[in-house]
Amino acid sequence: MGMDMEVTELLTFPALLALLVFVLSVPFITKFVKTRKHPNLNLPPGSLGWPVIGETFEFLRRGYEGEPELFIRERMEKYDSRVFKTSLLGEPMIMFCGAAGNKFLFSNENKDVQVWWPTSVRKLLRSSLVTKVGYEAKTMRKLLMSFLNPEALKNYLAKMDTVACCHITNHWQGKEDVLVYPTVKLYAFELACCLFASIEDAILVFKLSPQFDEFLKGVISFPINLPGTRFHRAMKAADAIREELKLIIKKRRVDLEEKRASPTQDLLSYLLVTSDSSGRFLTEKEIIDNILLLLFAGHDTSRSVITSVIQYLGRMPHVYEQVLEEQLEISKGKEAGQLLQWEDIQKMKYLWNVASEVMRLSPPVTGSYREALNNFTYAGYTIPKGWKLSWSTSSSHKDPAFFPDPDHFDASRFEGAGPTPFSYAPFGGGPRMCLGQEFARLEILVFMHNIVKRFKWWLLIPNEKFLHDPMLKPSKGLSIRLQPLQI
Ligand code: HEM
Ligand SMILES: *[C@@H]1O[C@H](CO)[C@@H](O)[C@H](O)[C@H]1NC(C)=O
Repeated sequence: MGMDMEVTELLTFPALLALLVFVLSVPFITKFVKTRKHPNLNLPPGSLGWPVIGETFEFLRRGYEGEPELFIRERMEKYDSRVFKTSLLGEPMIMFCGAAGNKFLFSNENKDVQVWWPTSVRKLLRSSLVTKVGYEAKTMRKLLMSFLNPEALKNYLAKMDTVACCHITNHWQGKEDVLVYPTVKLYAFELACCLFASIEDAILVFKLSPQFDEFLKGVISFPINLPGTRFHRAMKAADAIREELKLIIKKRRVDLEEKRASPTQDLLSYLLVTSDSSGRFLTEKEIIDNILLLLFAGHDTSRSVITSVIQYLGRMPHVYEQVLEEQLEISKGKEAGQLLQWEDIQKMKYLWNVASEVMRLSPPVTGSYREALNNFTYAGYTIPKGWKLSWSTSSSHKDPAFFPDPDHFDASRFEGAGPTPFSYAPFGGGPRMCLGQEFARLEILVFMHNIVKRFKWWLLIPNEKFLHDPMLKPSKGLSIRLQPLQI
Protein backbone atom coordinates (compact mmCIF):
# COMPACT_ATOMS: atom_id res chain seq x y z
CA MET A 1 0.00 0.00 0.00
CA GLY A 2 1.67 3.21 -0.99
CA MET A 3 5.17 2.89 -2.25
CA ASP A 4 7.26 4.47 0.40
CA MET A 5 10.36 3.01 1.90
CA GLU A 6 12.84 4.05 4.47
CA VAL A 7 15.47 6.12 2.72
CA THR A 8 16.70 8.44 5.42
CA GLU A 9 17.56 5.55 7.67
CA LEU A 10 19.59 3.77 5.02
CA LEU A 11 21.54 6.92 4.41
CA THR A 12 22.63 7.04 8.06
CA PHE A 13 24.60 3.84 7.46
CA PRO A 14 26.84 4.75 4.51
CA ALA A 15 28.96 1.64 4.68
CA LEU A 16 25.98 -0.59 4.99
CA LEU A 17 24.39 1.26 2.14
CA ALA A 18 27.31 0.60 -0.17
CA LEU A 19 27.18 -3.07 0.67
CA LEU A 20 23.45 -3.23 0.24
CA VAL A 21 23.47 -1.42 -3.06
CA PHE A 22 25.96 -3.96 -4.30
CA VAL A 23 24.04 -6.96 -3.02
CA LEU A 24 20.74 -5.54 -4.13
CA SER A 25 21.87 -4.45 -7.53
CA VAL A 26 22.72 -7.78 -9.06
CA PRO A 27 19.20 -9.09 -9.62
CA PHE A 28 17.82 -5.62 -10.27
CA ILE A 29 20.43 -4.72 -12.85
CA THR A 30 19.89 -8.03 -14.60
CA LYS A 31 16.19 -7.24 -14.67
CA PHE A 32 16.89 -3.68 -15.79
CA VAL A 33 19.03 -4.79 -18.69
CA LYS A 34 16.43 -7.39 -19.63
CA THR A 35 13.63 -4.81 -19.60
CA ARG A 36 15.55 -2.50 -21.86
CA LYS A 37 16.30 -5.29 -24.30
CA HIS A 38 12.96 -5.18 -26.08
CA PRO A 39 13.40 -2.19 -28.41
CA ASN A 40 10.75 -3.50 -30.77
CA LEU A 41 8.10 -4.01 -28.11
CA ASN A 42 5.48 -1.30 -28.21
CA LEU A 43 5.65 -0.52 -24.47
CA PRO A 44 3.73 2.41 -22.97
CA PRO A 45 5.76 5.66 -23.06
CA GLY A 46 7.62 6.81 -19.96
CA SER A 47 11.03 6.67 -18.34
CA LEU A 48 12.59 3.81 -16.39
CA GLY A 49 14.87 6.37 -14.71
CA TRP A 50 18.10 5.27 -13.08
CA PRO A 51 19.22 1.67 -12.85
CA VAL A 52 17.75 -0.02 -9.74
CA ILE A 53 16.39 3.17 -8.17
CA GLY A 54 14.29 3.97 -11.21
CA GLU A 55 12.07 6.93 -10.42
CA THR A 56 11.61 5.89 -6.78
CA PHE A 57 13.20 9.01 -5.28
CA GLU A 58 11.14 11.32 -7.44
CA PHE A 59 8.05 9.39 -6.36
CA LEU A 60 9.05 9.53 -2.69
CA ARG A 61 9.80 13.24 -2.86
CA ARG A 62 6.31 13.97 -4.17
CA GLY A 63 4.86 11.79 -1.40
CA TYR A 64 6.82 13.52 1.35
CA GLU A 65 5.73 16.86 -0.08
CA GLY A 66 2.18 15.64 0.35
CA GLU A 67 1.44 15.64 -3.35
CA PRO A 68 1.87 12.10 -4.65
CA GLU A 69 -0.66 12.84 -7.36
CA LEU A 70 1.78 15.28 -8.98
CA PHE A 71 4.15 12.42 -9.82
CA ILE A 72 1.36 10.77 -11.72
CA ARG A 73 -0.24 13.87 -13.19
CA GLU A 74 3.07 15.17 -14.61
CA ARG A 75 3.66 11.89 -16.38
CA MET A 76 0.09 11.60 -17.62
CA GLU A 77 0.57 15.01 -19.25
CA LYS A 78 4.04 14.28 -20.59
CA TYR A 79 3.47 10.74 -21.92
CA ASP A 80 -0.07 9.44 -22.11
CA SER A 81 -3.04 10.18 -19.86
CA ARG A 82 -4.10 6.52 -19.95
CA VAL A 83 -0.98 4.60 -19.12
CA PHE A 84 2.79 5.13 -18.75
CA LYS A 85 5.80 3.16 -17.65
CA THR A 86 8.15 3.95 -14.79
CA SER A 87 10.31 2.02 -12.35
CA LEU A 88 9.62 1.90 -8.62
CA LEU A 89 10.91 -0.25 -5.75
CA GLY A 90 13.43 -1.82 -8.09
CA GLU A 91 10.68 -3.04 -10.39
CA PRO A 92 9.80 -1.81 -13.87
CA MET A 93 6.20 -0.82 -13.47
CA ILE A 94 3.28 0.27 -15.61
CA MET A 95 0.90 2.84 -14.16
CA PHE A 96 -2.72 2.53 -15.21
CA CYS A 97 -4.39 5.93 -14.92
CA GLY A 98 -7.86 7.23 -14.26
CA ALA A 99 -11.17 5.40 -13.90
CA ALA A 100 -10.53 3.43 -17.12
CA GLY A 101 -7.24 2.13 -15.73
CA ASN A 102 -8.94 1.13 -12.47
CA LYS A 103 -11.69 -0.59 -14.38
CA PHE A 104 -9.26 -2.58 -16.45
CA LEU A 105 -7.18 -3.80 -13.49
CA PHE A 106 -10.11 -4.47 -11.18
CA SER A 107 -12.11 -6.39 -13.81
CA ASN A 108 -9.24 -8.55 -15.06
CA GLU A 109 -8.10 -10.20 -11.83
CA ASN A 110 -7.11 -13.83 -12.51
CA LYS A 111 -7.45 -13.19 -16.26
CA ASP A 112 -4.71 -10.84 -17.48
CA VAL A 113 -3.57 -9.64 -14.05
CA GLN A 114 -3.29 -10.74 -10.46
CA VAL A 115 -2.57 -9.04 -7.16
CA TRP A 116 1.08 -8.36 -6.31
CA TRP A 117 2.70 -6.87 -3.20
CA PRO A 118 6.27 -5.64 -2.68
CA THR A 119 8.75 -8.16 -1.28
CA SER A 120 8.81 -6.60 2.21
CA VAL A 121 5.05 -7.08 2.54
CA ARG A 122 5.21 -10.70 1.39
CA LYS A 123 8.14 -11.56 3.63
CA LEU A 124 6.56 -10.06 6.74
CA LEU A 125 3.06 -11.36 6.14
CA ARG A 126 4.19 -14.80 4.94
CA SER A 127 1.23 -17.17 4.72
CA SER A 128 -1.47 -14.50 5.00
CA LEU A 129 -4.01 -13.56 2.32
CA VAL A 130 -1.65 -11.09 0.59
CA THR A 131 0.59 -13.91 -0.61
CA LYS A 132 -2.31 -15.98 -1.98
CA VAL A 133 -3.82 -15.81 -5.43
CA GLY A 134 -6.64 -17.47 -7.37
CA TYR A 135 -8.75 -20.11 -5.64
CA GLU A 136 -6.70 -20.11 -2.44
CA ALA A 137 -7.17 -16.37 -2.06
CA LYS A 138 -10.87 -16.69 -2.74
CA THR A 139 -11.44 -19.22 0.04
CA MET A 140 -9.26 -17.36 2.50
CA ARG A 141 -11.07 -14.10 1.80
CA LYS A 142 -14.35 -15.85 2.41
CA LEU A 143 -13.13 -17.10 5.78
CA LEU A 144 -11.92 -13.67 6.87
CA MET A 145 -15.18 -12.16 5.62
CA SER A 146 -17.12 -14.39 8.02
CA PHE A 147 -15.85 -11.98 10.67
CA LEU A 148 -15.65 -8.77 8.61
CA ASN A 149 -19.04 -8.75 6.86
CA PRO A 150 -21.70 -6.26 8.05
CA GLU A 151 -23.89 -9.00 9.54
CA ALA A 152 -21.06 -10.21 11.80
CA LEU A 153 -19.78 -6.74 12.60
CA LYS A 154 -23.21 -5.74 13.91
CA ASN A 155 -22.38 -7.80 16.99
CA TYR A 156 -19.25 -5.78 17.71
CA LEU A 157 -20.80 -2.33 17.48
CA ALA A 158 -21.39 -2.09 21.23
CA LYS A 159 -17.77 -3.03 21.90
CA MET A 160 -16.54 -0.40 19.42
CA ASP A 161 -18.68 2.25 21.05
CA THR A 162 -17.41 1.26 24.51
CA VAL A 163 -13.78 1.39 23.38
CA ALA A 164 -14.38 4.81 21.77
CA CYS A 165 -16.09 6.22 24.90
CA CYS A 166 -13.32 4.94 27.21
CA HIS A 167 -10.68 6.28 24.87
CA ILE A 168 -12.25 9.74 24.85
CA THR A 169 -12.67 9.77 28.63
CA ASN A 170 -9.02 8.78 29.09
CA HIS A 171 -7.32 10.80 26.38
CA TRP A 172 -9.55 13.75 25.37
CA GLN A 173 -11.79 14.68 28.30
CA GLY A 174 -10.41 17.56 30.39
CA LYS A 175 -7.57 18.31 27.94
CA GLU A 176 -7.14 21.73 26.45
CA ASP A 177 -5.02 20.59 23.48
CA VAL A 178 -4.76 17.20 21.80
CA LEU A 179 -2.22 15.95 19.27
CA VAL A 180 -4.68 14.02 17.13
CA TYR A 181 -2.63 11.54 15.10
CA PRO A 182 -0.77 9.79 17.96
CA THR A 183 -3.88 9.90 20.12
CA VAL A 184 -6.17 8.30 17.55
CA LYS A 185 -3.56 5.58 17.18
CA LEU A 186 -4.39 4.42 20.71
CA TYR A 187 -8.05 4.06 19.76
CA ALA A 188 -7.26 2.10 16.59
CA PHE A 189 -4.84 -0.19 18.40
CA GLU A 190 -7.05 -0.84 21.43
CA LEU A 191 -9.96 -1.56 19.13
CA ALA A 192 -7.94 -4.03 17.04
CA CYS A 193 -6.57 -5.78 20.15
CA CYS A 194 -10.06 -6.08 21.57
CA LEU A 195 -11.93 -7.20 18.44
CA PHE A 196 -9.27 -9.38 16.84
CA ALA A 197 -8.02 -11.28 19.89
CA SER A 198 -9.89 -10.01 22.99
CA ILE A 199 -6.64 -8.56 24.32
CA GLU A 200 -7.96 -6.16 26.91
CA ASP A 201 -5.27 -6.52 29.53
CA ALA A 202 -3.74 -3.02 29.61
CA ILE A 203 -0.29 -4.39 30.40
CA LEU A 204 -0.27 -6.65 27.37
CA VAL A 205 -1.62 -3.89 25.12
CA PHE A 206 1.14 -1.65 26.45
CA LYS A 207 3.76 -4.32 25.78
CA LEU A 208 2.55 -5.09 22.25
CA SER A 209 2.16 -1.49 21.13
CA PRO A 210 5.86 -0.60 20.58
CA GLN A 211 6.49 -3.97 18.91
CA PHE A 212 3.58 -3.34 16.66
CA ASP A 213 5.01 0.10 15.75
CA GLU A 214 8.32 -1.46 14.73
CA PHE A 215 6.43 -3.98 12.66
CA LEU A 216 4.31 -1.34 10.91
CA LYS A 217 7.33 0.79 10.04
CA GLY A 218 8.94 -2.06 8.13
CA VAL A 219 6.02 -3.50 6.20
CA ILE A 220 6.78 -1.26 3.28
CA SER A 221 10.56 -0.92 3.25
CA PHE A 222 13.65 -2.15 1.45
CA PRO A 223 13.53 -5.91 2.14
CA ILE A 224 17.05 -6.19 3.48
CA ASN A 225 17.27 -8.37 6.55
CA LEU A 226 20.49 -7.04 8.12
CA PRO A 227 20.86 -5.61 11.63
CA GLY A 228 20.10 -1.90 11.67
CA THR A 229 17.52 -1.82 8.91
CA ARG A 230 13.86 -1.07 9.43
CA PHE A 231 13.01 -4.32 7.76
CA HIS A 232 15.16 -6.30 10.19
CA ARG A 233 13.55 -4.65 13.19
CA ALA A 234 10.12 -5.30 11.72
CA MET A 235 10.92 -8.99 11.21
CA LYS A 236 12.01 -9.26 14.84
CA ALA A 237 8.97 -7.38 16.10
CA ALA A 238 6.68 -9.58 14.00
CA ASP A 239 8.28 -12.68 15.53
CA ALA A 240 7.74 -11.31 19.04
CA ILE A 241 4.07 -10.62 18.26
CA ARG A 242 3.76 -14.10 16.73
CA GLU A 243 5.04 -15.63 19.99
CA GLU A 244 2.51 -13.63 21.98
CA LEU A 245 -0.31 -14.68 19.64
CA LYS A 246 0.79 -18.31 19.90
CA LEU A 247 0.31 -18.21 23.67
CA ILE A 248 -3.09 -16.57 23.25
CA ILE A 249 -4.14 -19.22 20.72
CA LYS A 250 -3.03 -22.04 22.98
CA LYS A 251 -5.10 -20.70 25.84
CA ARG A 252 -8.03 -19.95 23.55
CA ARG A 253 -8.19 -23.51 22.22
CA VAL A 254 -8.54 -24.78 25.78
CA ASP A 255 -11.06 -22.09 26.67
CA LEU A 256 -13.17 -22.90 23.60
CA GLU A 257 -13.08 -26.57 24.45
CA GLU A 258 -14.16 -25.89 28.00
CA LYS A 259 -16.76 -23.34 26.89
CA ARG A 260 -15.08 -20.50 28.73
CA ALA A 261 -14.63 -18.65 25.44
CA SER A 262 -17.28 -18.04 22.80
CA PRO A 263 -16.76 -19.12 19.18
CA THR A 264 -17.94 -15.69 18.03
CA GLN A 265 -16.22 -13.50 20.58
CA ASP A 266 -13.56 -12.15 18.21
CA LEU A 267 -11.67 -12.73 14.96
CA LEU A 268 -9.40 -15.29 16.60
CA SER A 269 -12.30 -17.47 17.73
CA TYR A 270 -13.84 -17.24 14.26
CA LEU A 271 -10.63 -18.38 12.59
CA LEU A 272 -10.19 -21.25 15.03
CA VAL A 273 -13.70 -22.68 14.64
CA THR A 274 -14.53 -21.91 11.00
CA SER A 275 -13.46 -24.10 8.09
CA ASP A 276 -13.58 -23.17 4.41
CA SER A 277 -16.02 -24.67 1.92
CA SER A 278 -13.80 -27.74 1.47
CA GLY A 279 -13.71 -28.35 5.23
CA ARG A 280 -10.13 -27.13 5.70
CA PHE A 281 -9.23 -25.11 8.78
CA LEU A 282 -6.50 -22.49 8.67
CA THR A 283 -3.22 -23.61 10.18
CA GLU A 284 -1.94 -21.82 13.26
CA LYS A 285 0.68 -20.04 11.13
CA GLU A 286 -1.99 -18.82 8.72
CA ILE A 287 -4.18 -17.58 11.56
CA ILE A 288 -1.30 -15.64 13.08
CA ASP A 289 -0.16 -14.19 9.76
CA ASN A 290 -3.70 -13.12 8.88
CA ILE A 291 -4.13 -11.40 12.23
CA LEU A 292 -0.85 -9.57 11.55
CA LEU A 293 -2.16 -8.65 8.11
CA LEU A 294 -5.38 -7.20 9.45
CA LEU A 295 -3.48 -5.31 12.13
CA PHE A 296 -1.30 -3.81 9.40
CA ALA A 297 -4.00 -3.17 6.81
CA GLY A 298 -6.53 -1.77 9.24
CA HIS A 299 -4.44 0.37 11.48
CA ASP A 300 -2.87 3.42 9.89
CA THR A 301 -5.57 3.56 7.23
CA SER A 302 -8.56 4.22 9.51
CA ARG A 303 -6.42 6.38 11.74
CA SER A 304 -5.41 8.49 8.78
CA VAL A 305 -9.03 9.00 7.72
CA ILE A 306 -10.17 9.97 11.23
CA THR A 307 -7.32 12.47 11.48
CA SER A 308 -8.13 13.97 8.05
CA VAL A 309 -11.84 14.24 8.91
CA ILE A 310 -10.92 16.13 12.10
CA GLN A 311 -8.82 18.52 10.04
CA TYR A 312 -11.50 19.12 7.40
CA LEU A 313 -14.19 19.70 10.06
CA GLY A 314 -11.87 22.10 11.87
CA ARG A 315 -11.43 24.02 8.65
CA MET A 316 -15.09 24.06 7.64
CA PRO A 317 -17.38 25.09 10.53
CA HIS A 318 -20.50 24.84 8.36
CA VAL A 319 -19.78 21.17 7.65
CA TYR A 320 -19.03 20.56 11.35
CA GLU A 321 -22.38 22.14 12.32
CA GLN A 322 -24.27 19.93 9.91
CA VAL A 323 -22.48 16.80 11.17
CA LEU A 324 -23.20 17.83 14.76
CA GLU A 325 -26.88 18.33 13.99
CA GLU A 326 -27.15 14.82 12.51
CA GLN A 327 -25.33 13.23 15.45
CA LEU A 328 -27.36 15.10 18.08
CA GLU A 329 -30.53 13.96 16.35
CA ILE A 330 -29.30 10.38 16.83
CA SER A 331 -28.35 10.94 20.49
CA LYS A 332 -31.69 12.59 21.21
CA GLY A 333 -33.55 9.36 20.68
CA LYS A 334 -31.38 7.53 23.21
CA GLU A 335 -31.25 7.28 26.97
CA ALA A 336 -28.14 8.52 28.74
CA GLY A 337 -25.41 5.90 28.56
CA GLN A 338 -27.21 3.79 25.94
CA LEU A 339 -24.74 2.49 23.35
CA LEU A 340 -25.03 2.97 19.58
CA GLN A 341 -27.34 0.58 17.74
CA TRP A 342 -27.10 -0.66 14.17
CA GLU A 343 -30.01 1.62 13.14
CA ASP A 344 -28.11 4.61 14.50
CA ILE A 345 -25.19 3.87 12.18
CA GLN A 346 -27.56 3.78 9.19
CA LYS A 347 -28.71 7.29 10.11
CA MET A 348 -25.19 8.74 9.89
CA LYS A 349 -25.60 9.44 6.17
CA TYR A 350 -24.20 12.94 6.09
CA LEU A 351 -21.23 12.00 8.29
CA TRP A 352 -20.34 9.12 5.95
CA ASN A 353 -20.69 11.39 2.90
CA VAL A 354 -18.28 13.79 4.58
CA ALA A 355 -15.82 10.97 5.35
CA SER A 356 -16.16 9.73 1.74
CA GLU A 357 -15.43 13.18 0.34
CA VAL A 358 -12.42 13.42 2.68
CA MET A 359 -11.19 10.06 1.29
CA ARG A 360 -11.70 11.35 -2.25
CA LEU A 361 -9.58 14.46 -1.66
CA SER A 362 -7.12 12.86 0.79
CA PRO A 363 -7.06 9.12 0.11
CA PRO A 364 -5.03 7.40 2.86
CA VAL A 365 -3.64 4.84 0.41
CA THR A 366 -1.97 5.95 -2.85
CA GLY A 367 -2.86 2.78 -4.74
CA SER A 368 -1.79 -0.83 -4.95
CA TYR A 369 -0.21 -3.33 -7.32
CA ARG A 370 -0.96 -6.05 -9.79
CA GLU A 371 1.21 -8.22 -12.02
CA ALA A 372 0.66 -9.08 -15.72
CA LEU A 373 -0.17 -12.78 -16.11
CA ASN A 374 0.04 -12.69 -19.92
CA ASN A 375 1.30 -10.48 -22.69
CA PHE A 376 -1.65 -8.25 -23.51
CA THR A 377 -2.49 -4.91 -25.15
CA TYR A 378 -3.86 -1.92 -23.33
CA ALA A 379 -4.62 1.44 -24.99
CA GLY A 380 -2.71 0.18 -28.05
CA TYR A 381 0.49 -0.63 -26.09
CA THR A 382 2.02 -3.98 -25.25
CA ILE A 383 2.03 -4.96 -21.60
CA PRO A 384 4.57 -7.80 -21.19
CA LYS A 385 3.91 -10.78 -18.97
CA GLY A 386 5.55 -10.48 -15.54
CA TRP A 387 5.63 -6.69 -15.43
CA LYS A 388 4.35 -5.05 -12.28
CA LEU A 389 1.31 -2.85 -12.70
CA SER A 390 -0.10 -0.20 -10.45
CA TRP A 391 -3.15 2.03 -10.16
CA SER A 392 -3.57 5.18 -8.12
CA THR A 393 -6.38 6.70 -6.13
CA SER A 394 -5.47 10.27 -7.04
CA SER A 395 -5.54 10.00 -10.84
CA SER A 396 -9.28 9.32 -10.87
CA HIS A 397 -10.33 11.08 -7.64
CA LYS A 398 -9.27 14.44 -9.05
CA ASP A 399 -10.53 13.90 -12.60
CA PRO A 400 -12.86 16.81 -13.49
CA ALA A 401 -14.73 14.55 -15.92
CA PHE A 402 -16.09 12.64 -12.90
CA PHE A 403 -15.77 15.27 -10.17
CA PRO A 404 -16.49 18.78 -11.48
CA ASP A 405 -14.38 21.42 -9.70
CA PRO A 406 -12.34 18.52 -8.29
CA ASP A 407 -10.46 20.40 -5.57
CA HIS A 408 -13.63 21.74 -4.02
CA PHE A 409 -15.01 19.90 -0.95
CA ASP A 410 -18.60 18.89 -1.61
CA ALA A 411 -20.07 16.02 0.39
CA SER A 412 -23.21 16.04 -1.78
CA ARG A 413 -21.23 14.24 -4.50
CA PHE A 414 -22.00 11.08 -2.55
CA GLU A 415 -25.76 11.59 -2.38
CA GLY A 416 -28.04 9.38 -4.47
CA ALA A 417 -26.19 6.98 -6.76
CA GLY A 418 -22.85 8.63 -5.94
CA PRO A 419 -19.75 8.69 -8.16
CA THR A 420 -19.46 6.82 -11.46
CA PRO A 421 -18.18 3.26 -10.92
CA PHE A 422 -14.34 2.98 -10.85
CA SER A 423 -13.86 6.76 -10.54
CA TYR A 424 -13.79 6.55 -6.73
CA ALA A 425 -11.57 3.81 -5.31
CA PRO A 426 -10.14 4.56 -1.85
CA PHE A 427 -10.58 0.85 -1.06
CA GLY A 428 -9.41 -0.47 -4.44
CA GLY A 429 -11.73 -2.74 -6.40
CA GLY A 430 -12.51 -6.08 -7.98
CA PRO A 431 -11.94 -9.46 -6.33
CA ARG A 432 -9.00 -8.10 -4.29
CA MET A 433 -10.77 -5.04 -2.96
CA CYS A 434 -10.18 -4.07 0.66
CA LEU A 435 -11.70 -6.61 3.04
CA GLY A 436 -12.01 -4.13 5.86
CA GLN A 437 -14.22 -1.51 4.25
CA GLU A 438 -17.19 -2.13 6.54
CA PHE A 439 -14.96 -2.42 9.60
CA ALA A 440 -13.34 0.90 8.72
CA ARG A 441 -16.72 2.54 8.13
CA LEU A 442 -17.92 1.53 11.60
CA GLU A 443 -14.64 2.44 13.26
CA ILE A 444 -14.69 5.92 11.70
CA LEU A 445 -18.41 6.64 12.25
CA VAL A 446 -18.41 5.48 15.88
CA PHE A 447 -15.36 7.57 16.68
CA MET A 448 -16.56 10.72 14.94
CA HIS A 449 -20.01 10.41 16.53
CA ASN A 450 -18.44 10.39 19.98
CA ILE A 451 -16.01 13.22 19.33
CA VAL A 452 -18.37 15.57 17.53
CA LYS A 453 -21.05 15.45 20.19
CA ARG A 454 -18.54 16.19 22.98
CA PHE A 455 -16.25 18.82 21.47
CA LYS A 456 -15.77 21.68 19.09
CA TRP A 457 -12.17 22.25 18.02
CA TRP A 458 -9.71 24.63 16.39
CA LEU A 459 -6.69 23.71 14.35
CA LEU A 460 -3.56 25.08 15.99
CA ILE A 461 -1.71 24.91 12.64
CA PRO A 462 -4.48 25.88 10.22
CA ASN A 463 -3.01 24.56 6.98
CA GLU A 464 -0.87 21.73 8.29
CA LYS A 465 0.43 19.58 5.44
CA PHE A 466 -0.26 15.89 5.19
CA LEU A 467 2.34 13.57 3.67
CA HIS A 468 2.65 9.90 2.75
CA ASP A 469 4.77 7.76 5.08
CA PRO A 470 3.52 5.42 3.58
CA MET A 471 -0.10 6.21 4.59
CA LEU A 472 -1.24 9.79 4.52
CA LYS A 473 -0.51 11.52 7.84
CA PRO A 474 -0.21 15.05 9.23
CA SER A 475 3.38 16.31 9.13
CA LYS A 476 3.17 17.65 12.70
CA GLY A 477 0.58 15.31 14.22
CA LEU A 478 -2.37 17.75 13.93
CA SER A 479 -2.61 19.81 17.11
CA ILE A 480 -6.10 20.97 18.03
CA ARG A 481 -7.60 23.06 20.82
CA LEU A 482 -10.71 21.54 22.36
CA GLN A 483 -13.81 23.22 23.61
CA PRO A 484 -16.20 20.84 25.43
CA LEU A 485 -19.83 21.07 24.37
CA GLN A 486 -22.62 21.21 26.93
CA ILE A 487 -25.00 18.36 26.17
C1 HEM B 1 -10.23 3.73 5.59
C2 HEM B 1 -9.59 2.63 5.80
C3 HEM B 1 -9.02 1.73 4.74
C4 HEM B 1 -8.63 2.01 3.45
C5 HEM B 1 -8.68 3.35 2.72
C6 HEM B 1 -8.16 0.76 2.88
C7 HEM B 1 -7.68 0.63 1.58
C8 HEM B 1 -7.26 -0.56 1.01
C9 HEM B 1 -6.76 -0.70 -0.34
C10 HEM B 1 -6.61 0.43 -1.36
C11 HEM B 1 -6.46 -2.01 -0.54
C12 HEM B 1 -5.93 -2.64 -1.85
C13 HEM B 1 -7.12 -3.04 -2.66
C14 HEM B 1 -6.79 -3.44 -4.08
O1 HEM B 1 -5.64 -3.76 -4.39
O2 HEM B 1 -7.72 -3.43 -4.94
C15 HEM B 1 -6.76 -2.72 0.69
C16 HEM B 1 -6.58 -4.08 0.87
C17 HEM B 1 -6.87 -4.72 2.06
N1 HEM B 1 -7.42 -4.16 3.21
FE1 HEM B 1 -7.93 -2.23 3.48
N2 HEM B 1 -8.28 -0.24 3.80
C18 HEM B 1 -8.80 0.31 4.96
C19 HEM B 1 -9.09 -0.35 6.13
C20 HEM B 1 -8.94 -1.71 6.33
C21 HEM B 1 -9.30 -2.40 7.54
C22 HEM B 1 -9.92 -1.75 8.78
C23 HEM B 1 -8.98 -3.72 7.35
C24 HEM B 1 -9.13 -4.90 8.27
C25 HEM B 1 -9.84 -4.95 9.34
C26 HEM B 1 -8.44 -3.84 6.01
C27 HEM B 1 -8.02 -5.02 5.43
C28 HEM B 1 -7.54 -5.16 4.15
C29 HEM B 1 -7.07 -6.42 3.58
C30 HEM B 1 -7.04 -7.77 4.30
C31 HEM B 1 -6.65 -6.15 2.27
C32 HEM B 1 -6.08 -7.16 1.26
C33 HEM B 1 -7.20 -7.80 0.50
C34 HEM B 1 -6.72 -8.86 -0.50
O3 HEM B 1 -5.53 -8.94 -0.79
O4 HEM B 1 -7.57 -9.62 -1.02
N3 HEM B 1 -8.43 -2.60 5.42
N4 HEM B 1 -7.25 -1.81 1.61
C1 LIG C 1 5.38 -12.55 -24.59
O1 LIG C 1 6.10 -11.72 -25.47
C2 LIG C 1 7.51 -11.96 -25.51
C3 LIG C 1 8.19 -10.87 -26.31
O2 LIG C 1 7.52 -10.64 -27.54
C4 LIG C 1 7.76 -13.37 -26.07
O3 LIG C 1 9.14 -13.64 -26.08
C5 LIG C 1 7.04 -14.37 -25.17
O4 LIG C 1 7.15 -15.68 -25.71
C6 LIG C 1 5.56 -14.02 -25.00
N1 LIG C 1 5.01 -14.87 -23.97
C7 LIG C 1 3.82 -15.43 -24.05
C8 LIG C 1 3.41 -16.27 -22.88
O5 LIG C 1 3.08 -15.29 -24.99
